[in-house]
Amino acid sequence: MHEPVLAAEAIEALALRAGGIYVDGTFGRGGHSQLILERLGPQGRLIALDRDPQAAHAALAVSDRRFSFFRTRFSDLSMLPAQVDGMLFDLGVSSPQLDDPARGFSFRHDGPLDMRMDPEAGMSAAEWVATAEEQELREVIRDYGEERFAKQIAAAIVAARRHQPIVRTRQLAELVAQAVRTREPGQNPATRTFQALRIHVNRELEEVSVMLPKAVARLAPQGRLAVISFHSLEDRVVKRFMQSLARPEMPRRLPLRASEMPQPVLTIVGRAQRPSSPEITRNPRARSATLRVAERTAVPYSEIEPGARWRN
Ligand SMILES: C[S@@+](CC[C@H](N)C(=O)[O-])C[C@H]1O[C@@H](n2cnc3c(N)ncnc32)[C@H](O)[C@@H]1O
Repeated sequence: MHEPVLAAEAIEALALRAGGIYVDGTFGRGGHSQLILERLGPQGRLIALDRDPQAAHAALAVSDRRFSFFRTRFSDLSMLPAQVDGMLFDLGVSSPQLDDPARGFSFRHDGPLDMRMDPEAGMSAAEWVATAEEQELREVIRDYGEERFAKQIAAAIVAARRHQPIVRTRQLAELVAQAVRTREPGQNPATRTFQALRIHVNRELEEVSVMLPKAVARLAPQGRLAVISFHSLEDRVVKRFMQSLARPEMPRRLPLRASEMPQPVLTIVGRAQRPSSPEITRNPRARSATLRVAERTAVPYSEIEPGARWRN
């Protein structure tokens, strides 16, 4: 099972209209989708996406003629209608992905070191760990895991793989535990390394960076974009992107006529929202979630905008 995070807040953020067209870009087990369908009228439509085959399988169980599903990466939104009224992206991994040892995300349960949301595409974590240069291992673990001991962990991986391929989650977790000298209270020493590998293997930050402008380009005026992120790197991308379209940069050439002033493509809706403590107690996976919401103005926008300064 997967309990949807910030469920009430995310649904409210979409400001649903009964007859509107909505997108759930991260179907998972359909928690948010279900809530959207409950609020749509007979003319409403919900289009859901997910790249995970098991999520696709779960979507088969939704028998509702207002609902359709595409198994795809959300960096490809070409199957969507030209204009939709709201989009929700609940980023990261689902509980069934994390909890199933066979998917290879878990350092608690032994399984093949895979970590792909779509096991039919790209390199598994084991393949990457076997082939990456030491420097690349160090940079990924440092940057995506925000891990202080990235250097020691990368060196330990390179030393260990000379003797034996690293193909199991437990094997990697034990190796990391030996290389990490001080442990954060209540946290498994492999937490940061596993997060880093997962982000890298699934190209999570690239996916979000490519998706955001495409999503905005397909939003109708007053359409809402709601994004829930689960770590600071991802949240920073979302925040900078929304701010860059809400407060467009002034061209250097001044003075400008009023008609030449860049106009905001998005309006930020409210502050970033975090789960309440009862929600975190009920669902510890919610603890690092942040919801950001923006509304589309009527100003024309092409996803190939010059100067995407939010990317850096
Ligand atoms: C946090 S879960 C979503 C849970 C869902 N809101 C629910 O209530 O069940 C994230 C889902 O997004 C999918 N996902 C993550 N990144 C994706 C991407 N780039 N393209 C498509 N699906 C992605 C994952 O496979 C996972 O099923």
